[in-house]
Amino acid sequence: MKWLITGAAGMVGSDLRDALTMRGEDVVALTKSDLDITDSRRVNAMIGEEKPSVVVNCAGYTRVDEAESNEGLANAINGSSVELLAQAAKGVGALLVHISSDFVFDGRKHSPYEINDITAALSAYGRSKLLGEIAATHAERHVILRTSWLFGHNGPNFVDAIRKQIHKGTNPLRVVNDQRGRPTYTPHLAEAIIRIANLDAHGMIHYADEPECTWYDFACAIVEELGAEVTVKPVSTEDFPRPATRPAYSVLSTERYERLTGVRPESWREGLREYLSN
Ligand SMILES: NC(=O)c1ccc[n+]([C@@H]2O[C@H](COP(=O)([O-])OP(=O)(O)OC[C@H]3O[C@@H](n4cnc5c(N)ncnc54)[C@H](OP(=O)(O)O)[C@@H]3O)[C@@H](O)[C@H]2O)c1
Repeated sequence: MKWLITGAAGMVGSDLRDALTMRGEDVVALTKSDLDITDSRRVNAMIGEEKPSVVVNCAGYTRVDEAESNEGLANAINGSSVELLAQAAKGVGALLVHISSDFVFDGRKHSPYEINDITAALSAYGRSKLLGEIAATHAERHVILRTSWLFGHNGPNFVDAIRKQIHKGTNPLRVVNDQRGRPTYTPHLAEAIIRIANLDAHGMIHYADEPECTWYDFACAIVEELGAEVTVKPVSTEDFPRPATRPAYSVLSTERYERLTGVRPESWREGLREYLSN
């Protein structure tokens, strides 16, 4: 099987590249400078020449707050470019695996979001991810893999933000306790992507680590794992106004992933331990 990864320098893309390389797989890992996915001519030429069996789109406009004032650019990268990838993948008969987000939901539910639940994004970023989901379906063979609250070695993330605050001497740490989700360690997501593509599964799939928690719970775990002498104070979203509205509840149900693979999602706490030990 030949893999082509876009956005290969990002948090997900680099861990997927490493996981595939470790397995001795045939991988073409393309960073933004190798392939800008908004460039239709280059997308067609690259996929047409490489003829991968799987295209994993890990490229994206991921600056959630900045997307509020850059919706056109977010839509171009997260939406229209996915259409280009879908058409190019279709042209060579490749499976397109496209990464989407819990931010496509409005967070009004109180039980985990199923794959067919109605989407209603609250932010420009979420709306751009919805455009990408629709575009991805235009590849004849596609997987839309929604995930949430990522942390990993090659991109800014919540764990790093908390660690920086601790190093700066911030005490107490004030962290929101009214947003619930499922943190996910990117090497765990990379394994899930490989498992799904090897099964030749199709359609919508959710993958997130277990269990669900709030950002406050997650911060407490980080402090505990670091053995830091810091107090974590729960606060509400209203105390931290930000340009983009986040869903209050964005727990993804991973039931279909578990059924297809026969494997339970990994534990983010174990991922956190591994992340902090490297
Ligand atoms: N982070 C999360 O919590 C989260 C949660 C759910 C879903 N997701 C989704 O997961 C996917 C991967 O996200 P990530 O966290 O790995 O993000 P990331 O670390 O920001 O990686 C995205 C990569 O895409 C590249 N990129 C941006 N514009 C591009 C373009 N026009 N052509 C080619 N590459 C381009 C970026 O390069 P530059 O940095 O040079 O711009 C970056 O290397 C995205 O689809 C994201 O929406 C993320």
